[in-house]
Amino acid sequence: MNLLEVTNLAVQFATQDGTVYAVNGLSFALGKGQTLGIVGESGSGKSQTVLALMRLLARNGQATGEALYQGNNLLTLPAATLNQIRGNRMAMIFQDPMTSLNPYLTVERQMTEVLQFHKGQDRKSALAASVRMLDAVRIPEAAKRIDMYPHEFSGGMRQRVMIAMALLCEPEVLIADEPTTALDVTVQAQMLRLLRDLQQDFGTAIVLITHDLGVVAGLCDQVIVMYGGRVMEQGSAQQLFKTATHPYTLGLLKAVPRMDRDDESLLAIPGAPPNMARLPKGCPFSERCSFAEVRCHDTLAPLQSVPGTVGHLRACHRDIARVQGMQTKESRHD
Ligand SMILES: Nc1ncnc2c1ncn2[C@@H]1O[C@H](COP(=O)(O)OP(=O)(O)O)[C@@H](O)[C@H]1O
Ligand SMILES: [Mg+2]
Repeated sequence: MNLLEVTNLAVQFATQDGTVYAVNGLSFALGKGQTLGIVGESGSGKSQTVLALMRLLARNGQATGEALYQGNNLLTLPAATLNQIRGNRMAMIFQDPMTSLNPYLTVERQMTEVLQFHKGQDRKSALAASVRMLDAVRIPEAAKRIDMYPHEFSGGMRQRVMIAMALLCEPEVLIADEPTTALDVTVQAQMLRLLRDLQQDFGTAIVLITHDLGVVAGLCDQVIVMYGGRVMEQGSAQQLFKTATHPYTLGLLKAVPRMDRDDESLLAIPGAPPNMARLPKGCPFSERCSFAEVRCHDTLAPLQSVPGTVGHLRACHRDIARVQGMQTKESRHD
């Protein structure tokens, strides 16, 4: 059974420049213990997607569609029910730990309060459970360090504290929005391993947001590639990594560092993400796409199944064999 079933999610913002369509027609289903990666450059709609699910959109934002968590639509649930789910059954971690940690309270106070509020635990058992969780995310000398303030931890350790906080109530769904972006590469790898281990121990389903397709490779079952507020390609990790069909996904894959290639062959996609208030009328990626034809600039390609696959979707007018063929020819040059 699916834990989370999102259908046709859209997010719009009312602005002085008109309506910004930040997320459009996004659907996925996430089962227990599964990981979904949402990938795309900055501004593509990744954060607004998950903020909509957590009902944390800015005031000028409006979400439509359906997001069923165990049969309840998160988008329309009464606030009281929502607050029993949020931070308890579904938890979120952010790029900057200080957005979810209170700088003026010790870690102990913040952690035990969560358990007292959501689980009705007394102070003593809440403290024991908090120390156990800090141990689980491998904070050395957890029993002692729990008395420290957030700023007394290093960046990587603070990230672990935040993960421990999010996992305290053993949520069924953990949403991680670029949790490793601010960390150096070694700590990044440690954090991702930690998430994977915790997932195995607790069976947590994870929605992992990143702009780096490489991060997704070892961790995700399914992947959604977004650009300009739209899904460009979606499928299993296998489908996306072995048989990507969309020029944007292929561009992202080329930008992933690999051990068997020196860094000089790393290719960033030329150009910059579009202004969301002034999207082209066709495919949002058309302006940067080396495969774009006239129809790509004029009309939006619908998100459709890749023939002969189960669950592999793409939104592109161009012929798959052609896109993949030209891609292979290009990569022979490097
Ligand atoms: N409060 C807001 N008002 C208007 N537009 C917004 C607001 N918040 C976000 N957006 C728009 O939504 C787009 C997607 O944002 P976001 O999901 O945060 O991107 P990212 O993929 O980097 O996480 C942004 O490019 C921005 O134009
Ligand atoms: Mg973001």
